[in-house]
Amino acid sequence: MTTTELTGQPFPEGFLWGGATAANQFEGAWDADGKGASIQDVMPRGISTGPTDEPTLDNLKLEGIDFYHRYSDDIALFAEMGFKVFRFSIAWSRIFPNGDELEPNEAGLAFYDRVLDECEKHGIEPLVTISHYETPLHLAKTYDGWTSRELIGCYERYARVLFERYGKRVKYWLTFNEINSVLHAPLMSGGIWTPKEKLSKTQLYQAIHNELVASASATKIAREVAPDAKIGCMILAMPTYPLTPDPADVWAARYAEHENYAFGDVHVRGAYPGYYLRKLRDQGIELEITDADREVLKNTVDFVSFSYYMSVCETADPAKRIVGEGNIMGGAKNPTLPVSQWGWALDPVGLRIVLNDYWERWQVPLFIVENGLGAKDELVEIDGVKTVDDSYRISYLRDHLEQVREAIADGVNLLGYTWWGPIDLISASTAQLSKRYGVIYVDRNDDGSGTLERYRKKSFFDYQQIIRSNGASL
Ligand code: BG6
Repeated sequence: MTTTELTGQPFPEGFLWGGATAANQFEGAWDADGKGASIQDVMPRGISTGPTDEPTLDNLKLEGIDFYHRYSDDIALFAEMGFKVFRFSIAWSRIFPNGDELEPNEAGLAFYDRVLDECEKHGIEPLVTISHYETPLHLAKTYDGWTSRELIGCYERYARVLFERYGKRVKYWLTFNEINSVLHAPLMSGGIWTPKEKLSKTQLYQAIHNELVASASATKIAREVAPDAKIGCMILAMPTYPLTPDPADVWAARYAEHENYAFGDVHVRGAYPGYYLRKLRDQGIELEITDADREVLKNTVDFVSFSYYMSVCETADPAKRIVGEGNIMGGAKNPTLPVSQWGWALDPVGLRIVLNDYWERWQVPLFIVENGLGAKDELVEIDGVKTVDDSYRISYLRDHLEQVREAIADGVNLLGYTWWGPIDLISASTAQLSKRYGVIYVDRNDDGSGTLERYRKKSFFDYQQIIRSNGASL
């Protein structure tokens, strides 16, 4: 029996509370100390328009929020909140500027040594994403990203270097951020330079296969060189509800869920599920899958992590399919749910549904590595102190954590929860700073102006209290 079962405490002892970030969205210093360009450096408008040929100064990500130079103060703020875990990604192009070199860039490696030093100083557990939407630009342009098998070797070399260098200091690793999003955002997620409308299904599904092989291969390498490491996959979770009780809609919803489940199924079970192979057959997609690939896929993960922001509906009736706005993938709008300022459906119960669903399906520990609210904030001065009165963010946080508590009581094995963007950073989909997620405000605006000063929002203190009480104050 676990402690939670015995004591009835909602959050287990050692629950990992914290926050999550990605290098390209907050480090800045895009060409410092030998770093090469990544695909994000040529995406000044996020995923809405095509990339530029070279990095351009109107791209907010080039400077980010300057975490590269302010990491020590920022991690101190995370520690002040009581973070037990800090999720960050390593910028592949800091370590291998082009991606296909044989030797890594020492200055890039040294930066993450310094970040880890700060985490250790404050007793914060690092959670490292190996690849978070930041494929080196050279790999995108030269090989067409993950459509090419060449990337498997490049990624294996990169992952090996990371495990060798940091394997004794980092326990939790994620191989690819939201690996299923490649279906919807092939450039951002898969470094695929061919425009989405020109990409064939065979190229797209081959890219997915190549990533899945690379992910399993990284797990295999970790077992050899960093045996204490725990490797997780990372899925963009979006529970999909039938728009009506019509069985055709129920199946349409299941079919859409299969697109996401497939990635977890391969990572946890080590082989492609039948429904996925059938989809490939039905669509006449023939992939290059070798016997060696099938062997590699058997290197399964230790845990499943996921992001959760919203749910969607699905319907078999195209006339009723009014596609709502949302996080990368589409779907039909849920008429029962309110939406955020960016049109994302607000659905705390969906998080309980995902947790139960994934736990029942895979029976491996889960980790919520992203959840948060992008909203416009107003910096105000109260008693001489600058802050943001973000009661909307506090409500979002509490509403979702209450559902997490319910899911734990349902028996779900959950390792931790990291709030997305604990410090304001640049949005992945829109490249705006005004879409703020932070509990820490950063003085930088969409036009690039601002001092980059940091201020604690009201939500900072609320999250601090929740962490201090291990969730009891909810
Ligand atoms: C996730 C990504 O999809 O959502 C993050 O992993 C991203 O990189 C987050 O920032 C929030 O999305 P957005 O588009 O509002 O930044």
